[in-house]
Amino acid sequence: MSISLVLFVLCALFLKPILFPRTGKLPFIPFHISLYDALRGVGKTGFYDNRLRPLTEKYGAVWYWSAGRWVVILTKPSYLTRVFRNEQTVSKAGFIKKVPWGVFARLMGENIIDAHDDQWKLFSSIMKPGIQRPFTIDSLVQKSEKLAQLFLENQEQTSSNMGVTIDPFVHRWAVSVFGEYFLDVELGCLENAHVRLEQLIGELNDSVIPLGPIFTEFPILERLWWLFPARRRAFALVDEIDSLIVAHTEHHLSNPPSPENVNKMIHFLQRARLEGTISEWHYRSNLNMMFIAGNENMLFAVTSAMWELAKNLNIQDDLRKEVNCSLSSDYSANDVNALPLLAAVAYETLRLYPPLSQFINRLALDDMPLDDVHVIPKGTWVGWSAYGVQTDPNVWGPRAKEFDPSRWGSTIEEINDAFRLHQSKGNYITFNGYTRRCLGSGFALTQMKVVLCELVKKVSWTKDPSYQLTTTVVSLNSQSNQLKRS
Ligand code: HEM
Repeated sequence: MSISLVLFVLCALFLKPILFPRTGKLPFIPFHISLYDALRGVGKTGFYDNRLRPLTEKYGAVWYWSAGRWVVILTKPSYLTRVFRNEQTVSKAGFIKKVPWGVFARLMGENIIDAHDDQWKLFSSIMKPGIQRPFTIDSLVQKSEKLAQLFLENQEQTSSNMGVTIDPFVHRWAVSVFGEYFLDVELGCLENAHVRLEQLIGELNDSVIPLGPIFTEFPILERLWWLFPARRRAFALVDEIDSLIVAHTEHHLSNPPSPENVNKMIHFLQRARLEGTISEWHYRSNLNMMFIAGNENMLFAVTSAMWELAKNLNIQDDLRKEVNCSLSSDYSANDVNALPLLAAVAYETLRLYPPLSQFINRLALDDMPLDDVHVIPKGTWVGWSAYGVQTDPNVWGPRAKEFDPSRWGSTIEEINDAFRLHQSKGNYITFNGYTRRCLGSGFALTQMKVVLCELVKKVSWTKDPSYQLTTTVVSLNSQSNQLKRS
């Protein structure tokens, strides 16, 4: 009896902060549920659908245990916009603040996406002109044509009743486009399947997956990274990525860029480093972060679009008709951005499959009222779920989870107006919002549209019937009439 009493008192003293959050009247998921799901290896989407969704759809916010602390995740549009608008109170903060000893902090350091206040203003003033510079799409079209060709070649080499796993090809395309448009280097990933920098990302993902959820839930364990072979490997890979990106771009210092390339992001960063405006560490942190953000998001966006178009063949056919009827052979970015169905397919894909589906990277520097009743206490880590708000029937209606590009409207003006309106209302946060909105969204949307144009022009595809969605596998059939056009 006395032992039980002692145990009870100890638990009450030491485990209370773990077992019960200061909820501020918002609901919470008990600690043991998060722990149980982490041990079973349940992924983010599974956890969201099974545990968080029933509460977020009712309350718009929920507390749960994540990455070694209690966090609040938001999905109600009015809460999201309030937090995004009050960046001085709920500040950006990334891995370097959350788990400074961890593998992602080592890779991403202090960068434009996670920085706050003056630090962010400095990074943004250096990088924004390079990210948002005017660009032509000629090379993007060529690289996208090459991707279609790679798909077809691979399908020919694959047995006729089997599909092609598209992810590795799309990744090579995304890295190649990023290299040219932002780093001013031709990495050659589309011509060569074994470019080390491109392969490293896949290897890094593979090495963080073993024990991943346990490290995510209990980041303190990562202090012992040297005990775990997979973690040791992850740290080594991160260091290799860091030095390879620099190695691929250092030659610019001795060969000044040509006038048409002088405004690419890398040159602004290199000039800032040379002038001492940013340190070597900030230079590398920003390069590494941009490399990941620019490639991984595009990979997910394009494979998701191909997945939905493989399931909805009527929409794929309509898109092919739109592209073939409206675009000349030397089309421009403006021509692509004028196509209504193409825009609606891109927005709808990014609604259902936001590449950054959930992020917990904001820290309440003071108490933050969400409305008249609910307050996030100072010191709380705050996150948002794009997947949550964008598939919430309270926001998007009873067919919220269905892929339906027609929900955006029929003319390009209507569709773009709906896109802007949903973003400003906090219904659509794929690119986040307000001052910290994605700086690459304009480029990313054009990139996604161009590749879809080239794919529907050259290839038709269906989903491999034996495939279950984890990575995307589609069966590709060359369309003889389309192929003649190229
Ligand atoms: C489909 C592709 C993309 C998606 C879905 C996406 C999404 C996002 C999101 C959600 C954020 C805000 C993150 C946060 O709140 O912490 C963000 C920020 C940012 N993104 Fe993107 N992104 C994409 C592509 C790109 C590309 C291609 C670039 C350019 C290389 C880029 C550059 C940035 C930058 C610089 C920021 C920081 C903005 C700031 O805080 O000032 N993104 N992106």
